[in-house]
Formats: sequence, C-alpha cells, structure tokens
Amino acid sequence: MKHSPLWFAGILVGALASSIAFSAHAESIEEGEKLFNTTCVACHGQNGKGKLPGVPDFTKRDGRLAKTDDVLASHIMNGFKSPGSSMAMPAKGGMSSLNQEQAEAIVNYMRQAFAGN
Ligand code: HEC
Repeated sequence: MKHSPLWFAGILVGALASSIAFSAHAESIEEGEKLFNTTCVACHGQNGKGKLPGVPDFTKRDGRLAKTDDVLASHIMNGFKSPGSSMAMPAKGGMSSLNQEQAEAIVNYMRQAFAGN
C-alpha cells in the first residue's frame, strides 16, 4: 500500500510542532536557572541541598521535588510552611516581581538540575 501525501504532511507538521515545543522548554529552563541563581540560591544553595538549617534538600529522592509542578509553583508563588517547620519558604522567594510563568520555569530548572531528569 502506498502512503498518501497527506500522511506524509502530517508527519512533517508533527515533527515541526514537537521541535518548537522542545525549544520553548529549553528556554524556560535557562530562565529558571538564572532566576534560581539570583534569588533562591541564598537559601537553597547552588547545588539545591539547602544552605541554612530548615531548608530542604532538593536532591533527596522522594523529597520535595516528588510533588507535582503545580504544587511546587504554587508554593513558590504563595510561600509555604510545613507543619512544625523551623523556617518558612517566603512567597516568591522574596522577589516581588516573580510571576507564575517564571515560577514554572524555575521548577523546570530544579527538576533538571537537582532530580536528574
Ligand atoms: C529565605 C530563604 C529562602 C529563599 C530566599 C527561598 N526559599 Fe524556598 N524554601 C525555604 C524553606 C525554609 C523551605 C521549607 C519550608 C517548609 O517546608 O516549612 C523552602 C521550600 C521550598 C520549596 C518546597 C516547597 C514544598 O512544597 O515542599 C520549593 C519548591 C522552593 N522552596 C523553591 C524556592 C524558589 C524557587 C526560590 C526562589 C524564587 C526560593 N525557594 C527561595 C527557604 C527559602
């Protein structure tokens, strides 16, 4: 059976769409890295292991990065305190201009840098 031209066009469009999606993702990781290393690094450390007592280690298996993207981005935007925790995560990491898209970019970066995936 011969493949129709339409079938072939479908493959091309699909390949194009996925490469665009991929480059957008890469950009957001880069932006997330910059933001992390200017603001979040003060408490979380460049290696994500936490620089102060009470700051969680992001590299720990089944640690904080086991939560979903939505939950992590929302805790970055709104701040977060675990029950009995000695120190809270400040809303937006103290950077008042941080927006939702940037919080998601930082989550993408943290997953790549600290969770190895
Ligand atoms: C002043 C120190 C400090 C700064 C700055 C800071 N954090 Fe945190 N962060 C914490 C502490 C402490 C916790 C743990 C809070 C708890 O569980 O009670 C935390 C927790 C988190 C968590 C885990 C939340 C969860 O659901 O378990 C994420 C994700 C996070 N921080 C991301 C960031 C990002 C991104 C930035 C920069 C925009 C940032 N933090 C800046 C101190 C900080």
